[in-house]
Amino acid sequence: MVKNIAVIRGDGIGPEIVEQALRVLDRVAELYGHTFRYTDVAMGGCAIDAYGDPLPEAELKKCVESDSVLLGAVGGEKWNDVPGHMRPEKGLLRLRAGMGVYSNNRPAKIWPQLAEASPLKPSIVAQGIDFIIVRELIGGIYFGEHKTVGDTATDVLQYSESEIERIGRIGFETARKRSRRLCSVEKSNVLDSSRLWKKVMCRLAEEYPDVALSHMLVDNCAMQIVKNPAQFDVIVTENMFGDILSDEASMITGSIGMIPSSSLGASTCGLYEPIHGSAPDIAGKDLANPIGTILSAAMMLRYSFDLPAEADAIERAVSDYLDEGCRTADIMSEGMQQIGCKECGDHILRHLRRECCT
Ligand code: IPM
Ligand code: MG
Repeated sequence: MVKNIAVIRGDGIGPEIVEQALRVLDRVAELYGHTFRYTDVAMGGCAIDAYGDPLPEAELKKCVESDSVLLGAVGGEKWNDVPGHMRPEKGLLRLRAGMGVYSNNRPAKIWPQLAEASPLKPSIVAQGIDFIIVRELIGGIYFGEHKTVGDTATDVLQYSESEIERIGRIGFETARKRSRRLCSVEKSNVLDSSRLWKKVMCRLAEEYPDVALSHMLVDNCAMQIVKNPAQFDVIVTENMFGDILSDEASMITGSIGMIPSSSLGASTCGLYEPIHGSAPDIAGKDLANPIGTILSAAMMLRYSFDLPAEADAIERAVSDYLDEGCRTADIMSEGMQQIGCKECGDHILRHLRRECCT
């Protein structure tokens, strides 16, 4: 199989973590006889520095024309004072909208090897943490009108029924492939957009009688995620609630550095990125955890290229590596040896193999 992958290294730790994911993809290509071609795309702070624009049109075009996009991270203090419409993050939002990737899938799953790294009580962790947040990604307050007039600033939160319906369907379909429990999260006791959200979800539920739909207010959900995470299977929610809840959900699994994500729209061309940021404080020091990016590459193979055996091989290599006694700083625990980003990549590569029957 030949695939063209647009690669956005971005800012901060982005280049280091992407480098390790590309090594893993190259090894998969070698083992399974595929060809992955990479096209570098400038986005974020580095694009502001080079072109005065966080995502020039020509760079977006490279992404839209690719088979999928792998992204490290963007942003950093250096660009904090640039105007809102020019911030590095604006490049990411334009990319998501430009690719039409409305459905963001963020798994929160605890690796048994990292159970100790969870800040939750062992008795809660023992009940299991394995759920997915399906986050609407190209609507809501992120994409409503933003304006500041005098001493008043406004951000508009707007959803149409069709926008809710298409992400709601992804929630039901995702639940169908798992334990058939879907929790729709909103703030319908306060917001009109949430009341519409709930109404559309109830209507869709009639088409999915095999999925048990529940509703939860976002503030309660934030509490339930730390109190009893085992109750969740699939959560579906709007853009900003999903942003906040997915950081919370990642932390209870031990480290945000471990969590990958996929973003898909109408086509198979997806955007794959770890959910953490660019961590400028540790950038260039070989301290970052590349696993979130490596697992994002595995998701790309699974969801965009339909290569489940190859994706399994990467996930197995990560698990085998975690069985050993080395850890990057973010998941260090007593008795473990601390290693850097590149060495973490070395270990995962060493474990990567093609199973005889796949
Ligand atoms: C994320 C990030 C982004 C978001 C930022 C960098 C714009 O926090 O992917 O969760 O808010 O969506
Ligand atoms: Mg976020």
